[in-house]
Amino acid sequence: MSGAGCMIALRGPAATLAGNPFEQPSRACLTYHDDALVVIEDGIIAAFGSHAELKDTLPAGIAITHYPDHLIVPGFVDAHVHYPQMQMIGAYGAQLLEWLETYTFLAEMSFADARHARRVAHLFLRELLRAGTTTAMVYCTVHPHSVDAFFAEAERFDARMIAGKILMDRHAPKALLDTAQRGYDESLALIERWHGRGRALYCVTPRFAPTSTQAQLDAAGALLKTGSGLFLQTHLCENPGEVEWVRELFPARASYLDVYAHAGLVGARSIFGHGVHMHEGDFCTCHAAGAALAHCPTSNLFLGSGLFKLFDAVDPRRPVKVGLGTDVGGGTSLSQLQTLNEAYKVAALIGQKLDAVQGFYLATLGGAVALGLDDRIGRLAPRMEADICVLDPKATPFMAFRAGYCVSIEEVLFLLMTLGDDRAVRATYVAGRAVYDRDRAGDPFVPAIAREE
Ligand code: GUN
Ligand code: ZN
Repeated sequence: MSGAGCMIALRGPAATLAGNPFEQPSRACLTYHDDALVVIEDGIIAAFGSHAELKDTLPAGIAITHYPDHLIVPGFVDAHVHYPQMQMIGAYGAQLLEWLETYTFLAEMSFADARHARRVAHLFLRELLRAGTTTAMVYCTVHPHSVDAFFAEAERFDARMIAGKILMDRHAPKALLDTAQRGYDESLALIERWHGRGRALYCVTPRFAPTSTQAQLDAAGALLKTGSGLFLQTHLCENPGEVEWVRELFPARASYLDVYAHAGLVGARSIFGHGVHMHEGDFCTCHAAGAALAHCPTSNLFLGSGLFKLFDAVDPRRPVKVGLGTDVGGGTSLSQLQTLNEAYKVAALIGQKLDAVQGFYLATLGGAVALGLDDRIGRLAPRMEADICVLDPKATPFMAFRAGYCVSIEEVLFLLMTLGDDRAVRATYVAGRAVYDRDRAGDPFVPAIAREE
């Protein structure tokens, strides 16, 4: 390795996925070093391996941050989350459709105020980083400035984020409705402003089939053709009442997924939230199209939506890509560790076992694969963007006590996904910068310097 340039290194125990543990034995998919070096140059991982092997390649004078007793992992990927719903997370007592009417739309109406949007985006970005999440696929509101507020804040941290303006032209309060044409025009302007600017990527975002007319779904399909690398996110088969409503609204379509397929919305960069009530034919359609699902277990439990059949979805005979979503505020935590805790239990309730390696795959590399970004994020490996989370398996006295009984890296990972939450995130690196340090005195967040316009 030559020239220190903008080079730093992290040292400590480190684990990363190197394969898909839903297709191969878990142990073969995990790379673990009890004393590793992650060498970072200009925001990109230059080298990753054991300290013993790499230490002599380091240039003299390089800054090494040492995290003994911690676990360095790739930054988490949240494949489905609503930043405007932070203010009504944990809203009591309703299933999906009533929950939307009673709480969600009201909360989203408050984003008519651009200052409110900026305030919430400020908090949301920090809470993501506190949870160790470095990439998220984010729903904003129908208001274009809610997208501006989100991407502007993400840019301050130089974070790789995907987001879009909700499209909604029926079955919601008037103040939250656009039209097919207006939604198209506003989305196009946002695509031109944000897609590919720094690390920002745009996602065409019809909320779900019931709140869009056929004309708006078709407009979403047309938007996807306006640029390369655009994403599509929406909700699918989350709740039985919702599925029935879609059947009534679109009687000519073969299934809920077929409503989206008919509008050209089922492709390799499409991510569908939930997919709890899907049939074999739907899985086959997603597999053939390369479309992905976001598994949102805390939300599915909190809203009583149902139990996602993870191992059916990823069946190696026709695997569907699956990422892990917090779905705040239907979900109850922004922590991917807590989300894995519930994913394990959802699997257990249908007689399936999600092991720790599979869990960490969903939260890191699997999420990156689901978003089609696995050439840039999701692993500790040369040429990957240096988005990194430093976990602390002894974050609390109870965790420290329990960790004393762990005899393998798999047990440590499982401890983290059972007892861990944001307290177990010691530091978060974005593009090679320590933007969050739990133990830093004063403000633990250090945004990167904003880019020149
Ligand atoms: N379906 C349509 N909108 C939403 C939403 O905001 N959250 C969830 N969980 N499901 C939805
Ligand atoms: Zn959602």
